[in-house]
Amino acid sequence: MKTMNRAHTCVFGLGWGDEGKGKIVDLLCPSFDVVVRYNGGANAGHTVCVGPEKFALHLLPTGALHANVVSVIGPGVAVDPIQLVQEIDQLSQRGIDVSSRLKLSDRAHLVLAYHKLEDQLSERAAGASERIGTTARGIGPCYADKMKRSTAVRVADLVYDSDIDDRIRKLVGARKALFQSLYGDDGGLDADAVVSDLAAARQRLSATVCDTTVFLHEAMAAGKIVLFEGANGILLDVDHGTYPFVTSSSTGPHGIGAGAGVPSGHLGRIIGTIKSYATRVGSGPFVSELKDKTGDRIREQGREFGTTTGRPRRCGWFDAVASRHAAAIAGVTDLALLHLDTLRGFNEIGICTGYRLDGRSISAPPALAQDLERTEPILEMVPGWHEDLQSIRRFEDLPEATRRYIDRIESLVGVAVSIAGVGPDRSQILVRGPLADVIRIPESTTL
Ligand code: GDP
Ligand code: IMO
Ligand code: MG
Repeated sequence: MKTMNRAHTCVFGLGWGDEGKGKIVDLLCPSFDVVVRYNGGANAGHTVCVGPEKFALHLLPTGALHANVVSVIGPGVAVDPIQLVQEIDQLSQRGIDVSSRLKLSDRAHLVLAYHKLEDQLSERAAGASERIGTTARGIGPCYADKMKRSTAVRVADLVYDSDIDDRIRKLVGARKALFQSLYGDDGGLDADAVVSDLAAARQRLSATVCDTTVFLHEAMAAGKIVLFEGANGILLDVDHGTYPFVTSSSTGPHGIGAGAGVPSGHLGRIIGTIKSYATRVGSGPFVSELKDKTGDRIREQGREFGTTTGRPRRCGWFDAVASRHAAAIAGVTDLALLHLDTLRGFNEIGICTGYRLDGRSISAPPALAQDLERTEPILEMVPGWHEDLQSIRRFEDLPEATRRYIDRIESLVGVAVSIAGVGPDRSQILVRGPLADVIRIPESTTL
């Protein structure tokens, strides 16, 4: 589809992940040539619902579902090669061939078996107040090795270095000794098994490996339009999130320079995705959390259970303070506000419009997690709605209370809501403004 308003675009999460990024990327794909993952790894779980069919992408960009799109996994992604092959195979079993249009960066770092094990062992050993509640996908340990350098393994090592098997054996031996001394358990790591699993993955992935940075710059010079798909969310960002209860990468558009080799100045549009309420999986402060029946009701109505781990998501009211802060960090041009349908049936809906710490009002999250934990929400209660929104397709057809709720969020966050979600399906979406020229709402619910 050719449109007037095509521009290199980033879609990312403004919250603690699971905002609906997969759904928005999927809708944009027909107008793009290339879709790029630049951060995170298989900790992500991006869902696309097409009629009765549901797809959950973890390492592959959501563009994998679209035959017109080249999928790129950039140097900033923590790549579990075994999981990647499994994901390619799972799509292939459903009739989608992605390997012929997949490009895997030779600079990306590998998540190895011992990274996943370390993630589990260290979480198990941590006290209740220190446990991050990770997805156990080995993300933190892989990025730690990347920064340490001497213990890191990259895709290029796997594919081009003839001595890699010996090096992996040594790395596995050293990690076993370390785990034994730290946790009294080496996790049964077997160097031969690690090496042979990697050999099988190498055989499957080699043909997809290239310098994706060069590929992207050549593609852009040839007029191709690129979509960057952020994983996780700004509130989980390693620098700007609720540290230390965060993930280990740069999750917003600021991650694209490092994680894909493309300057963020190339972006013409930055779409921040956010739900109409807030959710979080794992530990960490959550100012507007509802630990009561209202939170349970949102979880039930929104089916808030993790895409990657199946864990129940913690739920709370929309946090305008955190969202405004996140939108400013990312330079958001458009908001995609999802799950409006989920808030059906509440007489009143809360919006966290301010934070209060030790009796004083504060305008941004404090640095210390223990301070954020003590921070109280200043809530504004607004009228809810009882109508079923799921078949509505135009903003002007939304109930008055829903439109007022959207207006209030726009004014609090300071960014226009260009996209609104009214149900999980690909077709349950409303678009307005210039993006209406870029997203054509699918009428059919087949892939
Ligand atoms: P992501 O990680 O940001 O891609 O989000 P997830 O896929 O982990 O979680 C979002 C969930 O919300 C998925 O189950 C989606 O199918 C679902 N979803 C997305 N938009 C909407 C919406 O507007 N309404 C409802 N009810 N569900 C939605
Ligand atoms: P998507 O892309 C929700 C959370 C974990 C944990 C913390 C650190 O689907 O939005 P990690 O495994 O990264 O070391 O875990 O970050 N987390 C996510 N929560 N959605 C995600 O990704 C997440 N990726 C990481 O629950 O609290
Ligand atoms: Mg998710």
